[in-house]
Order: sequence, then structure tokens, then C-alpha cells
Amino acid sequence: MDHFVTAFAPASIGNVAVGYDMLGLALADVGDRVLARKTDGDGVSVAEVRGQDGDIHPLLTNDAQHNTASIAAQALWDAHGGAGGVELKVHKGVPLQSGMGSSAASAVAAVVAVNALLDSPLAMEALLPYALEGEEYASGSLHADNVAPSLLGGLILCPKVLLPDVVRLPAPQGVSAVLVHPDLQVDTARARRRLAKSYSIQLWLEQQGLLAGFIAACASSDVDLIGRTLRDVIIEPQRSAAVPCFDAVKDAAMRAGALGFSLSGSGPSMFALCEDSAARNLASAMEQACRAQGIECQSWISPMTAPGAHIEDGI
Ligand code: HSE
Repeated sequence: MDHFVTAFAPASIGNVAVGYDMLGLALADVGDRVLARKTDGDGVSVAEVRGQDGDIHPLLTNDAQHNTASIAAQALWDAHGGAGGVELKVHKGVPLQSGMGSSAASAVAAVVAVNALLDSPLAMEALLPYALEGEEYASGSLHADNVAPSLLGGLILCPKVLLPDVVRLPAPQGVSAVLVHPDLQVDTARARRRLAKSYSIQLWLEQQGLLAGFIAACASSDVDLIGRTLRDVIIEPQRSAAVPCFDAVKDAAMRAGALGFSLSGSGPSMFALCEDSAARNLASAMEQACRAQGIECQSWISPMTAPGAHIEDGI
């Protein structure tokens, strides 16, 4: 019997406030693991899906037709696998419907694990389209702002118009990300359907300017310019009301020295960027503000250069 190979894929911050569906940031020290091994069977199967507590996940299915990890793995296996099949075990470390790229982390970990089983493994960048198939199933549309940073690490620009190519952006020196996950859930597919279908040219120009300014600020590690540009004037106003603690946590973050603050992906998680020295205080201010609203939460501090997916142990 073949041994399992284990891949880890990190959680991520989608949109990063300025770049809806086209900018994403990997997070350190939180992610999903997928174990994979070859079998004599046919196609990809899922032996188990476990949650953060190590127990069988009460909500996620091991029906391979409906599991993000197996859908992504099957796409890769169909294109590059040999005879036989693959068995997966999915160990979730990212909370579901958290705005932390949970489905993307599973899809990415799955393709990275299965890639290691191939006779001629592909380069990491070449795995993106396969991981996106799993993510597309989960979120109901094609966007790479969680899959790309989870796969490649760091800060990644991934507009649909360039896919399957993506662009690694320089991360600013001395800047950290702080993410708070309130104990709430937001269904991304539903949140996406609710967005307005058309916008004014003024709003479009404003957000374009903020995105361009933010990218320039990251390249030059210009902390002041990050502070002036890290804003979402289009999507956040439509989504923040779904997170009851949003205003309180944002207020606390900005008072504690955040350069900017927004929802992570479609929420409910929220993130701030800040100078490294402010990160610890900021995390505790954001957590306190969340709990003061009666909502339990968890936070992570991450450099903007967090590593992407990788094999943890192999055959
Ligand atoms: N860009 C996606 C959205 C990310 O905001 O809907 C989902 O996590």
C-alpha cells in the first residue's frame, strides 16, 4: 500500500480591500492539510474530512463529486495522472465560511499533494487552473484571489484577464497583516450574488486609483501611501452590515494604528495592515472590540511574505 503524502496550503485574505477578485495575500501558520496516496481504484476518492478538532467534519462531505479538494485533485489527475486512482484525506485548519479562503486552501493542498504523486510533477504555477476548478465549485464563480496566494505565498495580483498567469507583487518591508475571525459565517456565493451589478464611473475611478496607489506603495514600502490607499469604496459598503461587529472592530483597529482595514474576502473575517511593531497591540484591540460586541473571535498576525503551499512529508 502506498504511503500518504501530506501537503499544507495556507489561508488567505481575498481582495486585500483594494482589489476585488484580483488581489490576495497568504497568511502564515493557518491552513488546511490534504493527504494523498495512489490506489488501485478509479479516479479520486475522499476517505475522510476532519475539522480543526480532529473529529470527522460534521458539515463537509466526502462525496468526491461535491468536495472542493477532490474536484481540484480530479481535474489534475485527469490531465496528468496515470493508471489507477488517488485517495485523499482532508484535514481542515481554516474555519468554514470565514472569509479566510477555506475552500481555496483545501483545493490548493489537494493539487499540491496529488502533484507529488505524479511521475512528472508540474511547477507550482501550473497547478493554479486545477485548484481553481475546486474553488469555482465552492464559490460559484471564477476568482483566484484566494487560490493564487495560497498556492504561491505572499501578495499576488491575479485579475481574471491575466489568468492563468498571475503576478507576484513585492511585499512592503516592515508591514504585517492582522486578521480577526469572529465566530460567524458568511456564505461567499450568496454574498457575491447580492452585490450590485453596475457602478458609477466615479467609484470605478476612485477604486482604480486606490489599487494602483497601493501596489506602488507596496513596491516602495511607503507606509504613508499604504495608509492613504488601503480602502474599499465599492464592495465593503455593501457587505459590512452582514458582520455586526464590523464598525466597532474597524474603529478599534484604526485607533490602534492600522494603516487600513477591511473585510477579508467576503467576511466575516476582518484584517488590517500595520507596521510590524503595532501588530500585537492591534490584534488585541481588534479582539477586544469584537468580544465587546458579544462575539467570540480568534486572531492571527502574519508577515506579508507568508509561504505558499508545500509538501510537509512525502513518500
Ligand atoms: N474575491 C472574493 C469575494 C473572495 O470577495 O467574493 C471570497 O473569499
